[in-house]
Amino acid sequence: MLIYTPGPTEVPPRVLRRMARPITNPDLDPAFAKSYELTQGKLRRLMKTKNDVLIMSGEGLLGLEAAVASLVARGQKVLTVTNGVFGDGFVDFVKMYGGIPVAVRGPYDRPVDPESVAAALDADREIEVATFVHCETPSGVLNPLREVAAACRKRGVMLIADAVSSLGGTPVETDSWGVDVCLGGSQKCLSAPPGLALVSVSERAWGVVRRRGPRVPAYYASLWQWEEWWNKKRLFPYTPSVSDIAALDEALDIALEEGLPRAFERHRRVSKLILSGCRGMGLVPYPKRDDYHSPTVTAVRRPAQVPEARLLRLMEERHGVMIAGSWGKLSGKVLRLGNMGYNARPRQARRAMLALERALSELGFRENEA
Ligand SMILES: Cc1ncc(COP(=O)(O)O)c(C=O)c1O
Repeated sequence: MLIYTPGPTEVPPRVLRRMARPITNPDLDPAFAKSYELTQGKLRRLMKTKNDVLIMSGEGLLGLEAAVASLVARGQKVLTVTNGVFGDGFVDFVKMYGGIPVAVRGPYDRPVDPESVAAALDADREIEVATFVHCETPSGVLNPLREVAAACRKRGVMLIADAVSSLGGTPVETDSWGVDVCLGGSQKCLSAPPGLALVSVSERAWGVVRRRGPRVPAYYASLWQWEEWWNKKRLFPYTPSVSDIAALDEALDIALEEGLPRAFERHRRVSKLILSGCRGMGLVPYPKRDDYHSPTVTAVRRPAQVPEARLLRLMEERHGVMIAGSWGKLSGKVLRLGNMGYNARPRQARRAMLALERALSELGFRENEA
């Protein structure tokens, strides 16, 4: 089976072999803390930051929740910029932790307009924190992180940016763009297994966390616990996932050995290949324009006459390829191919497209019927 979903992806054999090595007790073995620091250093290079980076046990979503739980106080206004499922999820997290979301909403099929973010910040000077999603994976749209970060920086607003499905596949310049909390996941463009949230924290964000201290209403999702344990004592707030971190370390080695510019170019090329292949099959891309597409995920509209469940099952059972539908408002409407990390290679992409084309044809779909 080729897993061609927008995370998890196929995992390179090198990463799988590394995971199979014997483990240690990470709370007792001082060598583990040293190796964790080395992995942090590699992650800093990937995220383009000198800030602290944390590797939390839990999926990408844990990073989003930890950022909101740790930085948003009860009654505090937060600019929640949203044009998709994960942007809407930030609104829910802000409400859950007692904050007041001030939403800038845009259509799902195109990127957020940075001017609308600047205008919303100018209209309400009480806002000190903003949330933003770089790549909206469920709709395949890449949002203008650099421009939105500039609008926040100019106004002294702290930015929490979800780069879960863009990090490693397209540029994310945490420090030079001015992202306070940058969030990644292990199972997207790094092609490590799912299980880790990657979180960079600026000095300004640590300042807020330290001021709030035990008032952060969480334990597992609290950055303050990391301040108390890891930053102060080089101990962990909970037992780290040793094998997942080893896998991440190997995946980071692979990414850094290739070099980020080459990896970005590879994602761009494969994304174009898939987009034109999908068009050739008669499928209609979900993002309104080609330059709206994230180079890490391709989203197309499900043809009305093709039942999604049957298509996905046919692809898996007869053609050995797994692709994905979508979530939230897009559930049942959009099909997605995850050209991320190890999967962003022409051979894998062609195999996924061939399976899609055959399954569509077996279900009676013809090119001019989309
Ligand atoms: C943009 C984005 N943010 C957050 C997440 C949550 O990550 P996870 O599924 O690892 O919890 C995802 C997962 O698809 C995502 O695509």
